[in-house]
Amino acid sequence: MSDVKLYWSQDNQNESLFVNKEITISPDDALKCSNILFHSDNLIAMKYLISMGFARKIDLIYIDPPFYSNEIYFQRMKNSNHVAFSDIWKGKISQYLDMMYPRLCAMQHLLSETGSIFIHLDWHVVHYVKVIMDEIFKPENFRNEIVVKRGRRKNLLYQFNSIDRMHNSNDSILWYSKAPDTRYPPPLVEHVSESKWMGFWSNVDRPTMRYEIFRYTPERGQWKWSKARASKAIRNYDVYKRKLYPLSLEQYWEKTGKKKEFIRKRDGVKYPEYWIPKKTHKILDNIWTDIESYDYSTGYGTEKHMALLERIIEKFSKPGNLIADFFCGSGTTLTVASKLRRQWIGCDSSSMAINVTRKRIKDYDFRMLMP
Ligand SMILES: C[S@@+](CC[C@H](N)C(=O)[O-])C[C@H]1O[C@@H](n2cnc3c(N)ncnc32)[C@H](O)[C@@H]1O
Repeated sequence: MSDVKLYWSQDNQNESLFVNKEITISPDDALKCSNILFHSDNLIAMKYLISMGFARKIDLIYIDPPFYSNEIYFQRMKNSNHVAFSDIWKGKISQYLDMMYPRLCAMQHLLSETGSIFIHLDWHVVHYVKVIMDEIFKPENFRNEIVVKRGRRKNLLYQFNSIDRMHNSNDSILWYSKAPDTRYPPPLVEHVSESKWMGFWSNVDRPTMRYEIFRYTPERGQWKWSKARASKAIRNYDVYKRKLYPLSLEQYWEKTGKKKEFIRKRDGVKYPEYWIPKKTHKILDNIWTDIESYDYSTGYGTEKHMALLERIIEKFSKPGNLIADFFCGSGTTLTVASKLRRQWIGCDSSSMAINVTRKRIKDYDFRMLMP
């Protein structure tokens, strides 16, 4: 424990409760009332957590480790330009992967059986880390590569007459679960779309899905739904037309409990059409360019946006869960975890990162205490 500075907040609302000495922590403390911030190399912190009984206790880990970018990052504050952390690896990629490998193994150990890990990287090493993650977590636990926007960077290519590659506009987040049978509620986001009619025939060739409707059986492709479902939807539209017209279909659908499906056939249009009701939400896919992923609120170089962490933590964990970020930098993950009523464990080896994080948590909780 000699290399670990442990800061421990008992109610996460008052900075004076942070202590800076060796104390014993248990998973019960962490789950009931306490958040934990390590000022330490994260391998030491994780080994300590494992020795204290935290194996399989963490529900969600987000990490944003150095990207192997060959850059030095600064704390950008008025009258100061101090180094926050260095991402320069003299031993090249193998040195970087030697650093990551035991840390990812420790995270696998700490993650609960229903837990998930999200690893934020970019083109420099994401493909190498995918390979070692497949080895440590197993390929069947790989869920998605999530594409997010990069931070503000000038596209310098405009000044040249020829280019050797395109500008990189995305980062990647690798999402793995601990176990392959874990399931998640569909991640919904607000998205308004009007109701519309779409062709009921599809090009996918499935002979069992070819049957007669409106006195026509297609010779190739398929109808989109089973015969029973389609027949019911045809009857629904017939009832609507005969009895309730001129009530709009939208109004009829709402009045009848928003469950009915409809299929119609218009003269002069080759195929029948099925009706898609208006939507207020859509299920997320892996392209998350609708939100920012970088922010510049603390001046800590590489700070991630709260919107990104809100999406990950809200969609893939529950209130009361234990969240960890072992490369926490300015503390974005921890701030969002507090906001969303999750417990957290944070770690960073940089004094500057720990100072920014502590200030941010204090600021956040002071805002929370205001009436
Ligand atoms: C890209 S930054 C994280 C930024 C953070 N996501 C945010 O929103 O501010 C990476 C952080 O990892 C920390 N770090 C690098 N190696 C580490 C190690 N072995 N143990 C603990 N922290 C480490 C650096 O000090 C740096 O703060």
